[in-house]
Amino acid sequence: MDSKPLSLRLPSETRSWLQRFSRGRATLSSMAARLLEEARRRTLFPGISFTDTPNGRRAIIEGSNTLVATVWQYQQTSHADAIALTDHFRWSLQQSIAAISYANAFPDEVSADAADLPSLALPTHPLNPSSPAHPDSDPDPAPSIRISHPFSSLIEAAKDARLHAHAPYSRFKVGAALLGKGWKLFKGCNVENLSYGLTICAERNAIFQAIASGVSQFEAIAIVADTRHPISPCGACRQVMAEFGNFRILSATLSGEVFESTVDALLPRSRTGILDLD
Ligand code: THU
Repeated sequence: MDSKPLSLRLPSETRSWLQRFSRGRATLSSMAARLLEEARRRTLFPGISFTDTPNGRRAIIEGSNTLVATVWQYQQTSHADAIALTDHFRWSLQQSIAAISYANAFPDEVSADAADLPSLALPTHPLNPSSPAHPDSDPDPAPSIRISHPFSSLIEAAKDARLHAHAPYSRFKVGAALLGKGWKLFKGCNVENLSYGLTICAERNAIFQAIASGVSQFEAIAIVADTRHPISPCGACRQVMAEFGNFRILSATLSGEVFESTVDALLPRSRTGILDLD
């Protein structure tokens, strides 16, 4: 990487900490540059952190002792999509997305780190005292902090979209977040109209946005409304979903109750016989 000198004043406490931190492994200035670069990357990729390993400093998934390289290697071997990766590592979708986005941004670094993997013995994390998963090992998912629901970040995105709902007639605001193949996220909210029939539901809004962006394969849709129990998509939305195959449906309330289903389960026999002219 191209570099230029910069002199800077450090509080003496920071300087002595840096001296202790870099002792025996790097010069003061190269460690300072390294730590600044790490700070920059943490800003760019929320959910990524860095830690010391016997092989040097490495990118990890924040709150776990799992290397980004471990996630990347698993993903390369298994071709896991966002949901499969989330299931395997038993963490949040946000963590999977953070890992893969980081690996895509720094492919050389991450693949070089992955080459070191077998010899890596990471310090254990106080919250997760087991060692990280290796792709070849039996399904012993990498330790990590598991937040309330593996798709909580998709549900959070739906909550966010709900805030934009245009629902002056029913006052019933709905948000949807659709996860497309290739880690693409689309949000939708209901948009009502004085001519009631022109109202569009949050789910269809999200799907149409995805289609308009060239994404037509989906992994999951999250739907959020402020109800006592999770709502079910209307028949029209189910039919539109079925147009694009079977995927997961996660319907959540603001208070966190989640109902999990699939397009096929909510709309069985959606295409049986139709246009089947032979
Ligand atoms: N609505 C949705 O957006 N999604 C659903 O799954 C159920 C209903 C909207 C449509 C309308 O604006 C309001 O909620 C009341 O039906």
